[in-house]
Amino acid sequence: MIPIYYFSASGNTKYCTQLVQRGFQDNDVSTELIRIKTVRNFPFPDEKESYPAIGLAFPIYEFMVPRIILIWLHQLPYVKELNPVFIIDTSGGLPCNSAEIAMDLLRKKNYEPIGILEVPTPVVEPFFDNKYYPVGWNREILDRCYYFGASLANKLRKEDNKLIDLRLGRFRFPKLTKFMYQFFVEGLSSSSGLIRFDPSKCNKCGACERVCPMAAINIQKIPNIINHNRCMFCATCIRTCPHHAIKISYRPRKVPPSVTLTPKSRPGYLDPRLYKYNRNPGIDRGYLRLLLGMLRIKKILKRK
Ligand SMILES: Cc1cc2nc3c(=O)[nH]c(=O)nc-3n(C[C@H](O)[C@H](O)[C@H](O)COP(=O)(O)O)c2cc1C
Repeated sequence: MIPIYYFSASGNTKYCTQLVQRGFQDNDVSTELIRIKTVRNFPFPDEKESYPAIGLAFPIYEFMVPRIILIWLHQLPYVKELNPVFIIDTSGGLPCNSAEIAMDLLRKKNYEPIGILEVPTPVVEPFFDNKYYPVGWNREILDRCYYFGASLANKLRKEDNKLIDLRLGRFRFPKLTKFMYQFFVEGLSSSSGLIRFDPSKCNKCGACERVCPMAAINIQKIPNIINHNRCMFCATCIRTCPHHAIKISYRPRKVPPSVTLTPKSRPGYLDPRLYKYNRNPGIDRGYLRLLLGMLRIKKILKRK
């Protein structure tokens, strides 16, 4: 059995990991999804067990591995025997160098990367109302996840040692990643932060405190309930608060935050249990549009 540890705030990473799991399952390899829920209580691989491999899945936040995963990686027990590991990361298309950073940290704990999958997904708060991001899941994304699981299952059977590298291959600049991280995460933490709390709307139910993965909320400290040094802006509290007392400050929201912004409610969603691998995908609509666009540009240039 292969344990796959995952952190997912709005459900994208969980969804992709379920599709990877489906790829394993169809190739007779059993896996178990284990949720990394809060920094208070991390699940780790059992030191007495020997696993064929372990998996780690997380979203990209601020061009980086999210803080909860960095802490998890830091606390992950060192294994004596070299252990295979695979990584899945989901992002709005800008994962930067995060996969490399996670792989380096895993190597320090004696884990050897055998596969890496990067999935472009529909983005969530605080960016979901950005018109430049796509809003749906498409067949290509689903197939990519399934294919990764299926390939890993075959790889483990054959014991070949070539890395399955399904990274996005864009904007992978280590220095830029570091700069962006310092600029955004550390910069925002040292200021008042992105997430704002409105005490007049709060009824002290404590739902936000219970769900915060970083244990950054203390409802007793009204009105300063958020510890901005801990917050990683995952927006779980925004999604959970029944009275919309927590919001993102930098942009006025037209749509109230709602739990319906999970993969299930987005166009193109397909239940991973019902998913079937598309062996004959035909022409992808995205590429077709790109081709048509290029032809149009050619025509304009000719006219000039
Ligand atoms: C606070 C925050 C920061 C993000 N930063 C990035 C980023 O730097 N690059 C990117 O491509 N996507 C970024 N995203 C988009 C998420 O990586 C993407 O929506 C991911 O699929 C969310 O996964 P989840 O639903 O499992 O939490 C960010 C999302 C949030 C909430």
